[in-house]
Amino acid sequence: MKLRSLLLAAMLLLAAVPSEARRKPQKFTHETVDIPAVQPRAIAVETAGTQLVLQVDARGTVNTVHYGAPAGDPAQFIGFNQGGHHNFDAPSAYPTAGGRFNGQDALHVRYSDGNQNTELYYTSHEVQARDGVTTTTVRLKDYVTALEVDLVYDAYVPEDVILMHTVIRNCGKKDIELRNAASASLNLTPGKYLLTHFYGGWATEMQIDQTLLTHDTKVIETRRGTQTTQGNNPSFLLSCGGSFSETDGETIAGALAWSGNFRISFEIDQSDRLNIVSGINPFASAYPLRAGQSFTTPEMIYTWSCNGAGGASRNMHRWARKYGVWKGGQVNPTLLNSWEGAYFSFTTETLLRMIDDAASMGLEMFVLDDGWFAREHPRNSDKAGLGDWEVNTDKIPEGIDYIAKYAHSKGLKFGIWIEPEMVNPDSNLAAEHPDWIVQSPGREIYQSRNQWILDLTNPAVQDFVFGVFDRTVSLSPDIDYVKWDSNRRIMSFGSPYLGDEQDRFFVEYIQGLYNVCRRMREKYPDIVVQCCSAGGSRIDYGSMRWFNEVWTSDNTDAITRARIQWGTSLIYPPCVMGSHVSAVPNHQTGNVTPLKFRFDVAAAGRLGMELQPKTLTDEEKALADRCIQSYKGYRDLVFDGDLYRLSSPFDSDFYSLMYVSADRRRAVVFCYCLRFQNHSIGGHVFRMQGLDPELRYTVSELNVDSSRWWGNGRQFSGAFLSNGGFNPVFKKANTSMVFLLEAAE
Ligand code: DGJ
Repeated sequence: MKLRSLLLAAMLLLAAVPSEARRKPQKFTHETVDIPAVQPRAIAVETAGTQLVLQVDARGTVNTVHYGAPAGDPAQFIGFNQGGHHNFDAPSAYPTAGGRFNGQDALHVRYSDGNQNTELYYTSHEVQARDGVTTTTVRLKDYVTALEVDLVYDAYVPEDVILMHTVIRNCGKKDIELRNAASASLNLTPGKYLLTHFYGGWATEMQIDQTLLTHDTKVIETRRGTQTTQGNNPSFLLSCGGSFSETDGETIAGALAWSGNFRISFEIDQSDRLNIVSGINPFASAYPLRAGQSFTTPEMIYTWSCNGAGGASRNMHRWARKYGVWKGGQVNPTLLNSWEGAYFSFTTETLLRMIDDAASMGLEMFVLDDGWFAREHPRNSDKAGLGDWEVNTDKIPEGIDYIAKYAHSKGLKFGIWIEPEMVNPDSNLAAEHPDWIVQSPGREIYQSRNQWILDLTNPAVQDFVFGVFDRTVSLSPDIDYVKWDSNRRIMSFGSPYLGDEQDRFFVEYIQGLYNVCRRMREKYPDIVVQCCSAGGSRIDYGSMRWFNEVWTSDNTDAITRARIQWGTSLIYPPCVMGSHVSAVPNHQTGNVTPLKFRFDVAAAGRLGMELQPKTLTDEEKALADRCIQSYKGYRDLVFDGDLYRLSSPFDSDFYSLMYVSADRRRAVVFCYCLRFQNHSIGGHVFRMQGLDPELRYTVSELNVDSSRWWGNGRQFSGAFLSNGGFNPVFKKANTSMVFLLEAAE
């Protein structure tokens, strides 16, 4: 018989056998594997003002027994029982499916024999300190399956931030499947917890939702593959005590450094304790781990403060400026972006005149947005050209170098737009590499904004995407800035490259993206790169470690932007918030607001303009020049100062925030009126924060000829300004005031 007929006969024979009979029998005995006893101990992960305590009991079980204010010698926690009579329900530092498990799991492994139990026990731990960061690694092991897990805690001591991640090693002889491999599990003592989390969509990013956590599980997650901020952002605030305050009370901020599918679940158990498990979303991602391989999870970032949401977000911002954002805290240039002013319709002449106008208003950079590329399938709308990254010489016959050099000759830097992860069906790239497109065999490849998404799990695609960046910035030595856009999420998920290992797709797509970003930064550390994703759909600490700033939102309307910027600032530092003044009626909302109001809202982030300057009157240009000049005088505070939110646009008609220098001698205060209906009040009282009560500050209103505030130009003590005497007078909605505070010598 031929081989093929033999195989067919064997298959037919197998099919005739009932499936139960085909199962491999497992050997069950009452013998158990010995777990070595360990010396009970407590391990403290400490920052300047916080302490996380892990307790190891005699069985080697590791529990998280404290996170918050320092509680002194951690050894006091030895024997501290939080899990009832047998300590069975103890708050495990990394709960696993299996064993005594009865809550939500952080780790769920399927072994090659189908078993899904894992029990982890302490084997050792070590602590390493370097320059303000202490790393504690707690090593755990499953003695039955030889699986090893390291719980890694990086304590950023002065910033009061703790990063948590895990390394999972398959030390067994057979391949396994990670059905859930969270970054961290945090346990908090019984209490009332108010969760603040962020939702949104295109042009409505980082909106705020609040809910009191109750028994059972509350999950925030995304399954969109990319574009974390559309839907839910992988971050939250937790007000311990049950009510939100900017200034008081224990508050925890958490953020996952991952730009793909995530899941953060909050479970209150029968003992009223809260467990938070956070990490990559296990959705369609049973990750295969071969014998000998390891998997490192993304980092979960935590901070705790007893000074409310303001304290927690300032900790997060300080950490982010130093460690979490590429060159965080560095002042990035003001700019004119071509998008809302020219969209796809421009010529060399259009761009040169925009550059002239940008220079005349005192801006520092010109950014050429979408529309400059593709010849055979020209990018004259969003219907064609993505993927074909050669200059469209019909629009710009002189080439990019000519425009960049012209900008430099006018004293401006030059930036350019790319969207390297995407392809229009109407492009040469789509025709040449159909196998590079994310797709599921036999199914429609859905388009969104007329485009498909490239399969970043494929190393050849990673090379291409890096090449787009590399070749674009090589178009001119005078390119200083790149806007990296990404305008859709993943649909019909699947990778031609991964074959039958599709479980890797969502994880390796993001790892592929980060590989490209790593290469970009190795070669181009100094180019300022903006992370844009149809506005702010990729605002997360996974991407920010590679990017200098984000395009906070396509929504450039000052009224609705106020909320977006406020929400963003609860977790992410204002130095990353690209914020532009655009034309009215606003292209996204139709709202009409005064130019000064638009400037004053945009100036709370990295200020830019995004309109056709030739539509401005001379008077408007003069106001623009004035606002830009004053911004240059205080922007160091926006980029590197401490943010205090004084009044929220979500629950007040009067919105206000301020930035204070580290030495508390300078501050800038932004006050806005979003709705006005009361002519009887003299002024609206804001209580400043972060000032030295003893210092005397000269308060000067900026961007006006004469101020309406009675105290303008006078000196006041920090105590006076903080405790009730600062009351700018508003007479209309959509008006604003900006004040500079300088301490007297
Ligand atoms: C979406 C971005 O958010 C916009 O700012 C602009 O760059 C367009 N894409 C260009 O297509």
